[in-house]
Amino acid sequence: MERLLTVVWTCLLGSGLTLADFNATSQTAPGPPRLIGCVFMIRTNVTCRWEPGDTPAAYSTLKVQIAPRCEIPNSTPNSSLKTFTCTTSGSSCTTGIGASTDRICFCISIISHGVGGNVSSAPRCQPGRIEVILPPVVLNSVQQVNGAPQCLNVSWSRDLHLFSVAESEIERGDLNSQIEFAEKGEEIPQVRNVTVNGLCILVCLFRPDTLYTIRLRNRYRGPASPWSQWSNAVQGRTAEDAPSAAPVLWRKVGQVSGDRRRLVSLLWKPLPRFLANGRVVLYDVFCQAEDGQILSDYGSCRKLQRANTSCSLPLPDGRWSCALTASNSAGTSPEDRVWILGSSETEPPAPVGFNATPLGDSSMEVRWSPPPDLSATGFVVEWLAVREKSSSVLQWEKLDGSCTKLVIAEGLNPMERYAVSLKALYGEQGAGKKVTLHVYTRQGTPSAGPSVRVHQISGSSVELSWTPVPVELLHGFIRSYTLFYRTKNQPAKSITVSGHVHRYTLANMPAGVYEVFICAITDAGTGPPGNLANVHIGSEEISLVMCVVVPLLLISAVLVLMALLAHTKIAKQKLFKGVPDPSNSTLSHWNPETSVESKRLVVEQEKPEVSCPEVILVDKLQDLEKSQMYLHICNPPMFPYLQPSSPPAKTSDKGYITNTIITQSKNDLSTSPCIYSNVLCSQFNQNLPPPFSPASYQASENSTACIDDIKQPAGGVRESSVFRFTSSDEQQTFRLFLEELKGQRSAGLLTPSPYIVIRRRSPD
Ligand SMILES: *[C@@H]1O[C@H](CO)[C@@H](O)[C@H](O)[C@H]1NC(C)=O
Ligand SMILES: *[C@@H]1O[C@H](CO)[C@@H](O)[C@H](O)[C@H]1NC(C)=O
Ligand SMILES: *[C@@H]1O[C@H](CO)[C@@H](O)[C@H](O)[C@H]1NC(C)=O
Ligand SMILES: *[C@@H]1O[C@H](CO)[C@@H](O)[C@H](O)[C@H]1NC(C)=O
Ligand SMILES: *[C@@H]1O[C@H](CO)[C@@H](O)[C@H](O)[C@H]1NC(C)=O
Ligand SMILES: *[C@@H]1O[C@H](CO)[C@@H](O)[C@H](O)[C@H]1NC(C)=O
Ligand SMILES: *[C@@H]1O[C@H](CO)[C@@H](O)[C@H](O)[C@H]1NC(C)=O
Repeated sequence: MERLLTVVWTCLLGSGLTLADFNATSQTAPGPPRLIGCVFMIRTNVTCRWEPGDTPAAYSTLKVQIAPRCEIPNSTPNSSLKTFTCTTSGSSCTTGIGASTDRICFCISIISHGVGGNVSSAPRCQPGRIEVILPPVVLNSVQQVNGAPQCLNVSWSRDLHLFSVAESEIERGDLNSQIEFAEKGEEIPQVRNVTVNGLCILVCLFRPDTLYTIRLRNRYRGPASPWSQWSNAVQGRTAEDAPSAAPVLWRKVGQVSGDRRRLVSLLWKPLPRFLANGRVVLYDVFCQAEDGQILSDYGSCRKLQRANTSCSLPLPDGRWSCALTASNSAGTSPEDRVWILGSSETEPPAPVGFNATPLGDSSMEVRWSPPPDLSATGFVVEWLAVREKSSSVLQWEKLDGSCTKLVIAEGLNPMERYAVSLKALYGEQGAGKKVTLHVYTRQGTPSAGPSVRVHQISGSSVELSWTPVPVELLHGFIRSYTLFYRTKNQPAKSITVSGHVHRYTLANMPAGVYEVFICAITDAGTGPPGNLANVHIGSEEISLVMCVVVPLLLISAVLVLMALLAHTKIAKQKLFKGVPDPSNSTLSHWNPETSVESKRLVVEQEKPEVSCPEVILVDKLQDLEKSQMYLHICNPPMFPYLQPSSPPAKTSDKGYITNTIITQSKNDLSTSPCIYSNVLCSQFNQNLPPPFSPASYQASENSTACIDDIKQPAGGVRESSVFRFTSSDEQQTFRLFLEELKGQRSAGLLTPSPYIVIRRRSPD
């Protein structure tokens, strides 16, 4: 058994050895190096590359022999042939070839020198030009070809000494050529094969009216010859072609007027460059009635220039169609057409399921489903910002009948309301009914409050109405309004009403003086309060006193006065000096703007007393009636909201101004103390309120400048350099007001107005 195994092993080993021997014997004849290829530079040098042979070589020799005929030389070397060599330890080298042209034949062999001796590859003999690299050519011009807007006429030239392909060979097509071209503004150029069979070639692979930068390169016949370097770059513009599409046309149709015409505005989009194929020089409008009637009056739609994108014309009632074409120097575009229905025709149905979804602050997507019965040939989406005070530009997009959505990605702003509408187009049946949505890409809170007005006071109820905030200031959809009312030293109470309500009655109000204001609420939150309205709800007893007692007192006073006047005229001048302090009277809280036609107001107006001082912040003195802030300062203060409020009544409305002082109101009030310093000087100089230290008080010594440059405002305001407070309460209130103002300014809640006016009216 063991013997048998040994025999098997011997056999296996023997066969293995035989195989090894066989491979060993096959390697005994070493392979020569193998030439891969050469590159000839005409009249200069040749570079060849090869694979080394099987035996390791210390170095190799490239041998380039000029042969009279292209045939493999016999084994005896002909030493009289011109030979060029170079040696290298690597696998490529370059040798000069003298001034030889590439037309002659070169026999090339590689000899590797190793320890085993010299091994030479069989010589390869072929004309040098097969592997020549041609020198780059020179581009002379690139010109447009009239009548062939996709072609450029490229003319080039060559160095005759170095460019070894003759013109006849070029005409025969011996050159392989490529063109590289880039449109103006294009980063990455394109490369295309072109046929070059002359020194002027027509390359027709371009777009009309486009500026190209072009380069050219060549090689001799086939891939064995490497590409030359690119030529110089030359620019050329292709010729114009007629516009390849119609400008997209849309219209706005006005109401039919007395002469049975309506003003139709045609609107269109300028052709994009790739469709205009040149410079549009004019647009042409052509309108036609259903019955073939031709329009005679084209309004402003005649001789339209390149810059025009709209025009309007008076179109007789009835069904019409208008077509628009654009023309350039090469021709006229196809037409786009709109059909306009007669005013008595029923519009086809609207698309269904129209909705809009914001995609971000400045874009939205609108979607719809095609109208159910008829098949639409197209859709038009129109949108514009909704504004009350100014107009906005209508934007539109016309889409084909297969579209069911549009992304509006430009020109939208958050917190701005857009009306987006959609119409289906039904070819000659015209445009269908319109569906409209109001959309915000993002809602915000209102930037102003509603302007509240006291409509009527009866008993303990007060009816308020308010004007809605202009849509520009709403920044969102109004969902509700909150009415706040508060009385002296009481926290404000509030009532919220739905957003479509603009009138509300506060009932069962306890007697008192109320401040009322309203805030608007959008989906994003609550806006600031609007103006303050002052409301006085009197108790029945007071009313009785006011209605009966006060008039009696007034009559007696008038009688006394008349008696006095009869005695002396000087008394008149003294009349206002000894008037009792009116500032404690609740009646003096009447805001003149809440012009309520009630008995109480009449009573208040008849009261022959000096009214509360008014403090007004204004930007310009001429704007005294449009003050930023206005309040009476009789009583302990109620100004947690220094909000824009109703301007004071005109001087002529109520009394005349007895005492006014005006100051520049700097951001930092303490540096401009002229008002209060004067005030304090004149009457309260022993009792300085804390914020106005003696230092700022000192600074006011030259404060006359604050007052001197005041122009007399219209309305007969009289200025004086001294304002008189009639009570320390007034003075205290004014001081608190200044502190509040300072606080709100430093918190950025109030923009500083340059002037503070403090004045007092005297009922006349
Ligand atoms: C012999 O050479 C061939 C190819 O050259 C190879 O496939 C084979 O494995 C070699 N055999 C031995 C035994 O080396
Ligand atoms: C071959 O000739 C060209 C042209 O004169 C030259 O640029 C190049 O350097 C030469 N090659 C070598 C290896 O000398
Ligand atoms: C060697 O080259 C010369 C010149 O090209 C030629 O005249 C001659 O016949 C050649 N001799 C042989 C043996 O081929
Ligand atoms: C091998 O080539 C080298 C250089 O060409 C030469 O000097 C040497 O004599 C050659 N050897 C043989 C054995 O031919
Ligand atoms: C191309 O331009 C050359 C002159 O540069 C002109 O002779 C030739 O007629 C032009 N070819 C065409 C087709 O315009
Ligand atoms: C140019 O032609 C060659 C054949 O001649 C082809 O292999 C190559 O892909 C072509 N190149 C281009 C850019 O068309
Ligand atoms: C067309 O454009 C010209 C030049 O911009 C302008 O003067 C003219 O009013 C425009 N016409 C219409 C109808 O818009």
